[in-house]
Amino acid sequence: MEKVPKRLIIRSTPFFCLLLLCLLYTSIEFRTHVNDQWKKQRTNLGGSCQEDLNFLLKRLVKERNQAQLEVTGVSYHSDVHTEVWVSNRPVRIDTRAMKIYAPSSRYAYNRMISPYPRREDKTAMDYVSPIQILQGNISDPPACRYNHNVPAVVFSSGGFTGNIFHELNEVIIPLFLTTRHFQSRLRFVITDFRPPFFEKFGKVLSRLSSYEVINPAANESVHCFPGAVVGLHYHDNLAVKTTNYIPEGYSMLDFKQFLRESFNLKVVDLSQMEKPVLVLISRPKHRAFLNEDQMVTMMKALGFRVVIAKPDMMMKVEKFAEVLNSCSVLVGAHGAGLTNEIFMPQGAVMVQVVGLNLGWASATYYGDPGREMGLHYLEYKIEPEESSLVSLYGRNHPVIVDPASIEAKGYRIGRAVYLEEQDFNVSIVRFRKTLVKALGLLGRSAPLGVDETEISDDSF
Ligand SMILES: *[C@@H]1O[C@H](CO)[C@@H](O)[C@H](O)[C@H]1NC(C)=O
Ligand SMILES: *[C@@H]1O[C@H](CO)[C@@H](O)[C@H](O)[C@H]1NC(C)=O
Ligand SMILES: *[C@@H]1O[C@H](CO)[C@@H](O)[C@H](O)[C@H]1NC(C)=O
Repeated sequence: MEKVPKRLIIRSTPFFCLLLLCLLYTSIEFRTHVNDQWKKQRTNLGGSCQEDLNFLLKRLVKERNQAQLEVTGVSYHSDVHTEVWVSNRPVRIDTRAMKIYAPSSRYAYNRMISPYPRREDKTAMDYVSPIQILQGNISDPPACRYNHNVPAVVFSSGGFTGNIFHELNEVIIPLFLTTRHFQSRLRFVITDFRPPFFEKFGKVLSRLSSYEVINPAANESVHCFPGAVVGLHYHDNLAVKTTNYIPEGYSMLDFKQFLRESFNLKVVDLSQMEKPVLVLISRPKHRAFLNEDQMVTMMKALGFRVVIAKPDMMMKVEKFAEVLNSCSVLVGAHGAGLTNEIFMPQGAVMVQVVGLNLGWASATYYGDPGREMGLHYLEYKIEPEESSLVSLYGRNHPVIVDPASIEAKGYRIGRAVYLEEQDFNVSIVRFRKTLVKALGLLGRSAPLGVDETEISDDSF
């Protein structure tokens, strides 16, 4: 049994009992106050089931807008990252043109929604197809070809999928936030359908929905649902906030638990492990470790079993999740690979190598989220001498001494320099101190007899 927030259990128990009752009814004419055309939409829901559905959908709507949902049958939320449209009345989705027809007693409306929670990022949204929603007194909706008895949740798997940070940040976590409480009784309609994404996260999707996914491009028809959600809720970078966001009640730990269940990961007790495992994220270009071999030698000398994670290894999310689930220390420079911190057990350590002028990005995207995930977080800040930018530009160039002046030239220029031109030649002596600290956080100490001079011979 999955963990559902206590408050939700208490508030929803009577409704779930009703839900069971509802399952006994089948094919009952749908009864609600919509115009005659819509009364013809047959669903498997009786009146009380519609109440349950209403209750589940209400959770996705801000408290102050819930009354409006009751009265009008629809609600629309938008913020800087996302937009979410909810209907608690029957809708028809014409997947031939991705048009959604929704009855509403109050407002006639025609809006376009791009269901991918990164509205602020135009580049991402270029890969997201908008969906048209026609709402109001619609006299001639297209006839239903398929009647579904669970609500539809419509989202795009376009955007920046293909990059694991974006996959988790913009799809998987928002999906969890938006649909977990339906207890799998919903059907996904996934636009901009990308098979590799589906293969990677199929297990997660099938844990959130017991029904087969609809890919509109492969199923051009008219699908009718008792209710619908278009778009996904979003909180923050790799984050699940417990309060002040919709919906409330889940935590990052709930999400991690959910991921472990999806990928069937056993929680490993780190203290039981003979040799702590260190996973080193090895980037072939852009923020690469130039002296990776020396780093690995030092790590082994400290008593770690070292796993070098190359991109092809990280592509197999499920397998890599298993590796990280028994990993004590994750080491990497700012980059999507660090997203895998999400699979580490509580109390493990994430060590981020922070390049020149990457302090903010490192903390915002991986450091702060890591702490929220129950990890220890250490930063190893690169000195100019360890950055390849010094050999490229010279020690006194504004790139080194005045990054703000480079940033002022525009995001693309700053990005090209600090994210794409920068590699690291890590000081073994200094980095070793960070790893000794990591051992301390794991309740271990550096093995005796490993002398600093012994390993610093051919490093610096
Ligand atoms: C809805 O549309 C029908 C036909 O177009 C019209 O007869 C009816 O008066 C409309 N109802 C409302 C509430 O606008
Ligand atoms: C389209 O979706 C319906 C309802 O889920 C399903 O029964 C049908 O087999 C699908 N058609 C195709 C071509 O996938
Ligand atoms: C890293 O720095 C050390 C010490 O300054 C130097 O000897 C070595 O050649 C550098 N390695 C690379 C790959 O740049």
